[in-house]
Amino acid sequence: MEKSTLTTIPDEDFLYVQIADRLGSQIRQQVIKTGEKLPSVRALSHEQGISLSTAYKAYVQLEIKGLIEARPKSGYYVRYTPARSFDKIKPKGEQQEGESKKVSLDEMIAMVYRNFSAESMLRLSVASPALSLLPQARLNKSMMEAIRLSPNSCISYESVQGNETLKKHIARHAFSWGGNILPDDIVTTQGCMEALVFCLRAVTKPGDVVAIEGPTYFGIFNTVQSLGLKIVEIPTDATDGLDLNYLEKAIGVHKIKACLFVPTFSNPLGYCMTNERKKQLVELLAKHEVPLIEDDIYGEMYFGKTRPRTCKSYDKQGLVMLCSSVSKTLAPGYRVGWCIPGKFKREIVNLKLMHSLSSASPTQAAIGHFFETGRYDLHMRNLRKALHTQCLRYTQAIAEHFPDDVKVSRPQGGYVLWIELDKKIDAFELYKQALTYKISISPGQIFSTDSRFTNFIRISFGAPYNDEVDKGLKTLGRLISKF
Ligand SMILES: Cc1ncc(COP(=O)(O)O)c(C=O)c1O
Repeated sequence: MEKSTLTTIPDEDFLYVQIADRLGSQIRQQVIKTGEKLPSVRALSHEQGISLSTAYKAYVQLEIKGLIEARPKSGYYVRYTPARSFDKIKPKGEQQEGESKKVSLDEMIAMVYRNFSAESMLRLSVASPALSLLPQARLNKSMMEAIRLSPNSCISYESVQGNETLKKHIARHAFSWGGNILPDDIVTTQGCMEALVFCLRAVTKPGDVVAIEGPTYFGIFNTVQSLGLKIVEIPTDATDGLDLNYLEKAIGVHKIKACLFVPTFSNPLGYCMTNERKKQLVELLAKHEVPLIEDDIYGEMYFGKTRPRTCKSYDKQGLVMLCSSVSKTLAPGYRVGWCIPGKFKREIVNLKLMHSLSSASPTQAAIGHFFETGRYDLHMRNLRKALHTQCLRYTQAIAEHFPDDVKVSRPQGGYVLWIELDKKIDAFELYKQALTYKISISPGQIFSTDSRFTNFIRISFGAPYNDEVDKGLKTLGRLISKF
């Protein structure tokens, strides 16, 4: 008896320090925020399986450190106030020393990503539709119906290749882009990003060289680099797209193992390669037996009369792996994507099995149900019309509010405008200044691994044009003029 008491005391002493440290770190990292109530001493003791006195001592320890305070008859509350950090929006003129120091590409990308979900921000950096343009109520209904109709309420694992109804509609829809696809040719994924990762892993190993467009969506080279792959950027033209001659030479020189391109409404340039050039690209890569990972996420967002064809539609050897998702058309948060991997299907299925077993059942079922209701086409007609109008309206406002020497892309679809500013302007500096006015833009630096685009910015026209956007673009114009 005596012995067990003796061993418990030091243990318990150690425990309260440990618990105080863990809670303290959550408070400092703002997992528990200033002003939030902490669990009662009794609840903490119960939750952690410790004595009441240990729980109490842990709180006293945090009180001494000034992280929490006890309020009479109410309990313990967080009182820690974080120091101002770079990520906080500061009024102009309050920049701290060191902020203008050189920031790495990864850090820049992380900063821009972090501001993606800040509600109070005018998010001109996000290449996706405003919520008001999405069929929220219909999707909610589809989610409920899909769960109701499912024999297991969508609780069970979905089959590895994905929801049958969803695959059936993706296959039917392929007709619009020139495809002849069966549901069994499709593997569903968590968004387009996971499809890209699976495709890259299926056809490369660390150290291999992958060709991407320059400039390209920052998520793409982030992902390519994270897989230990080397990057060769292929120059692009705002009208024609990829420089195919350069690509052919690069294949020989760099021993390129795979290409990952966005040939339909590239992000950020917005070009759509013509059918003829897409065909040439597929034939060129087939000649050298290089797989093409075709990111077709913007393919449905065309402003013209018809859906552009895909490279996949010209694929005779199964070398083209088409990737897409509903993130730009219906629901980015559902994380419903897919790939049509041609002859690499077995590898993709194995990767999916190893990586995630299967994709989330309810969201796949909900999107499948939404397609089944036949509302997709009407929704897309309205969305495309709205986006085209917004694109023109934003372009016009930029012409009015930005200096005369600014050049703007003329996208034929998609969500973004690519803007070239005067050479002396550092887009990342502009990005930081715009943040102080609660405007987020994407600086050109994050779209390339080299420094060719330091005087470019990308602006999304995904939100309907209104007074707030107008004011934001005027402010941006003013900031640009002041450089
Ligand atoms: C070209 C491109 N590919 C992939 C993605 C990511 O797609 P998802 O959200 O479906 O993973 C984006 C997002 O902006 C994108 O622009």
